[in-house]
Amino acid sequence: MKIEKNTQQPSTLAGQNRMRCNQWITLFAALVVAAPLGAVAADAPHLEKRGTATQLIVDDKPFLILGGELGNSTASDLKYLSTHWGTLKTIGLNTVIAPVEWDQIEPTEGVYDFAPLEGLIQQAEANRMKIVLLWFGAWKNSMSSYAPPYIKHDYKTYARAQDDKGVPQDILSPYDPDTLKADQRAFGALMSHLKSFDSNHTVVMVQVENEIGMLPVVRDCCPQAQAAFLGQVPKALTDYLQKNKANLHPFVRDVWAAKGNRTAGTWAEVFGDSVEAQEIFQAWGFSVFANDLTKAGKAAYNLPMYVNGALNRPDQKPGQYPSAGPIPHVFDIWKAGGPDIDLIGLDAYFPNYVYWADQFKRPDNPVFVPEANRAGRTDAGGNAFYTLGELEGIGFAPFHIETLPNPSTHPLTDAFRVLHQITPLIHANQGKGTMRGFRAPLSYEGVLDETPRKYDIGGYTLTVSMVDSRTPKDTQDIAAHGGLIIQTGRDEFLAAGRGVIIRFADAAANSSYRVGIEQIVEGEFVDGEWVGGRWLNGDESGQGRYLRLPPERFGILRVKLYRYK
Ligand code: DGJ
Repeated sequence: MKIEKNTQQPSTLAGQNRMRCNQWITLFAALVVAAPLGAVAADAPHLEKRGTATQLIVDDKPFLILGGELGNSTASDLKYLSTHWGTLKTIGLNTVIAPVEWDQIEPTEGVYDFAPLEGLIQQAEANRMKIVLLWFGAWKNSMSSYAPPYIKHDYKTYARAQDDKGVPQDILSPYDPDTLKADQRAFGALMSHLKSFDSNHTVVMVQVENEIGMLPVVRDCCPQAQAAFLGQVPKALTDYLQKNKANLHPFVRDVWAAKGNRTAGTWAEVFGDSVEAQEIFQAWGFSVFANDLTKAGKAAYNLPMYVNGALNRPDQKPGQYPSAGPIPHVFDIWKAGGPDIDLIGLDAYFPNYVYWADQFKRPDNPVFVPEANRAGRTDAGGNAFYTLGELEGIGFAPFHIETLPNPSTHPLTDAFRVLHQITPLIHANQGKGTMRGFRAPLSYEGVLDETPRKYDIGGYTLTVSMVDSRTPKDTQDIAAHGGLIIQTGRDEFLAAGRGVIIRFADAAANSSYRVGIEQIVEGEFVDGEWVGGRWLNGDESGQGRYLRLPPERFGILRVKLYRYK
C-alpha cells in the first residue's frame, strides 16, 4: 500500500478539512485496493527451489525476468529516465535493472533522500514494469565512486585500499569496519524505506554493490588488510573446504592442496603467498563484507539479494582483471564467505557465453544474468533462450538497454516476444528434466563450434544443429541462433527459437524403432491460448525428416512424433 505524501499546505480551514477528508478517502481507497475483503497480501518476492531449478516468486507466482539494465547514470535524473520507457516497452521488458546511488540517497551523513528511489518505482509502476535494484554502495566496478562525500573526504576514518607499495587507491578497503558500518547503515535505511514504500512489490531483487574486485594489484595491502593476512584463516572457510573437498574448483583445490590441505593456520600456512593465494585471501575479505552488508539489508527487508562480477579475460593476471570478485575460479571462497547471498549473477560481455554461463549453474547458484552484451553482436536473443531453457535461469538482461539500436526490429525484441508467450511453459518445466536449451558455442575469439549436439529428453534422442541446411551458409548469422524444446506430452514437444534443426531418434538402448514426425504446426500463444497456423509437412520439415525453426526470426512449433519399424 502506498499513500502519497501531500506536501502542499492548505491555506484555509475549508482547505484543511477538505484535505483531511481527502486523506481519509485516499487511505480508505488504498486499503481497499491493497487488501480487498478476504484477500491475503502476497508474500514479498523470494526464491523457491523447484526440482533442480530455483524460481523467483513474485506476488505468489513464478516470475521470469525478461529485462534490461539501464546505463549507470540514466536513473540518477528522473526527468531523463522518463524519456526512455517507450524504448523499454518496445523491447518488451517486464523488468528494468536500475541503480540507486549511495551518494544520492545519503548526501549528508545520516540524512537520507529517497526521492530518486521513489521516482524510479513510480515510473516503473506507471509503465507496468518490475525493478531489480542495484546498490551502488562501497564499490562500483572495483572503484568507490558512488560513496558519499563524507566518506570520500574522511580517508582517516574510512581507509583506502593500498597497493603492494603502500600507494593508496580510490577504493575503500573491505577490511575497515567503519566502512562496513557506514555502508550497512545506508543500505539498511534504503531497504527499510523500500519495505514501507513498495507495497506493490515493484522491486523484486537487489544487487549488493557492483562488480566488486581489486585493481590494480591482486590484493589490498593497507595496514588493516596486512593484519588480517597475518591472522588465522577463519574456520568457516576451512570447514567449507573440507566439506566440499570433492567438488572444489581446480583453482582453489590446487592452491589448498599445495600446502597440504591444512585445516588451520595463518593465510600463508594454509594457502601460501602466491598470487593465487593472495586472490583467495582478498576474495574472502570481499565476500565477508558483501555478506555482512546483505544481512543488514535483509534484516530491514528480506528480498532476494545477489552479487555480480567482472569476468577475467584469457591470460590476464589478477589486478589486471578485477581480482577476487565473484567469478568462477573463486566461487568456493564467495560461497563460503557469503552464505546469505542468494546467488552470484553473470555479467556476460565476452563472446564465449556458453563457456561462462555453464559455470554459473550449480546446485548452490541459480543463474541470473543482470548484464549481457547487447550492442555490437546479435547473440543476446539466442543467449536468452539458452539461459532460460538449458540453465533454468531466473532472468536475462542486456546492459545499457535503453540504447539498443533499432529496438522494434532488434533480434532481442523478437526473442523476448516469443519468450513472453512461452513463459508459463518454461516455468512449468523448469527443474523437471523436460526442457533443454540450445545455441552454438562461440570461443572467446568469436569462432563458432557448429558441431551438432545430442540431447536425451523423455525417451527421445535429439540431434540438434544450429546451422540451417536450407539457407546459404554465408548468409546465416549463426551466432544469433538459439532455442529451446519442452516435452509437452509423451510424444509431443514444443520448440521455440531461431535457426535450429532437430532430428529425433528413439533413446532406448539398441532400439529397433525409428521415429517419424506425425505433424508439425507453427503458431503462437495469444492471451495464453495456442493458436495454430500452417502445417509444415513439406519442404519446411524436409518432408518429415526434421523440425526446423527458420533462421530469420524467432518462432514456435509444436511437433507430434511416432515410432515405427
Ligand atoms: C560492467 C558494469 O557492471 C556496468 O555497470 C558498466 O560499467 C558496464 N560494465 C560497462 O560496459
